[in-house]
Amino acid sequence: MTTGQWWIVALSEQLAPGKVLAAVCNGQQLALFRNSEGEAFALEDRCPHRRVPLSPGQVRPGGLQCPYHGWTFDGASGRCTDIPNLRRDEKIPPAAVAAYPVAELNGFIHVLTGEGEGEAAPAAALPGAAYRASGREYTGTAVVGIGFGHYLDLMLDGTQCLLSFPGVVITDFFMGDPRLDGGYLVLDRGAVWAGKGVGPAFVRDHPLLVRTRVPLAGGDITAELLDADEQPLVTVLIGASANLRGTTSLAWRGFAHERAAGAPFGWRLRRLAGRAPFTVAQAIDARAVALVEAAPSRERGGAAARTIPITPAITAAAGCNGARAQQETFP
Ligand code: FES
Repeated sequence: MTTGQWWIVALSEQLAPGKVLAAVCNGQQLALFRNSEGEAFALEDRCPHRRVPLSPGQVRPGGLQCPYHGWTFDGASGRCTDIPNLRRDEKIPPAAVAAYPVAELNGFIHVLTGEGEGEAAPAAALPGAAYRASGREYTGTAVVGIGFGHYLDLMLDGTQCLLSFPGVVITDFFMGDPRLDGGYLVLDRGAVWAGKGVGPAFVRDHPLLVRTRVPLAGGDITAELLDADEQPLVTVLIGASANLRGTTSLAWRGFAHERAAGAPFGWRLRRLAGRAPFTVAQAIDARAVALVEAAPSRERGGAAARTIPITPAITAAAGCNGARAQQETFP
């Protein structure tokens, strides 16, 4: 049984064949790479030989080659497969780096961290499995200056600090309390078209809703702009995970649905012009964040308790011996 957690760590298009990408997921520094056959891998971003980062290295037929002395590590097992200039009587030592299971779905690269056997997860269990884009997609990545747990909380308490829909004003009106739905807290807020006033006095009469779906475990967040019939106008999936020093890594994809009934002319024009129907904040206004009252996020069982712990070296997940390798020394 796998007890680890799948995280969205990058967009598929960020990792072309033969490329390496440094990423941080759940506090783990990773070297993601894709071989010439198109398969993606994730290794701990630290060579077991002299501890330098592997992510500036090169993709070779045997795996990822360290930029310092050229040792190569297999992407699936993490084991060292090649050392340049070995003498005939020398063997490759049992060196290995931690390797993490990788899966791709809906244009996202997912990595499994945490204790477990490293079995492949069914696609339905991957975060964002329900995301189905149609038409033009708008994508991006960022590292934002707010801790992961706070980011999730703020997506419930102060969505407008993290996300916007051009032409739409997100109001302060919550449609009741967050409701639990399959391991996610779902909260609706009233919203109005910009320039149409602040909205009605009664929340149920708002012409638009912003629905946020925030996980209790993991980091896949869905935000949607809905019309009065609760039909989606815009869908955004954001993969979030803890980066280093109190920051959060984000990777997102989103799109505008075909439906635009009731949308103002300007909003439809924006869409026809190919302008993004949403913006994920990359520079977060700390002063605005400080003013947001913690309210719906209390439902997350206590913000501090819900902060996903930084997992120590993950080795069992990939069935490799990375942790042991870190304690060994090699010439
Ligand atoms: S530091 Fe990586 S091969 Fe020496």
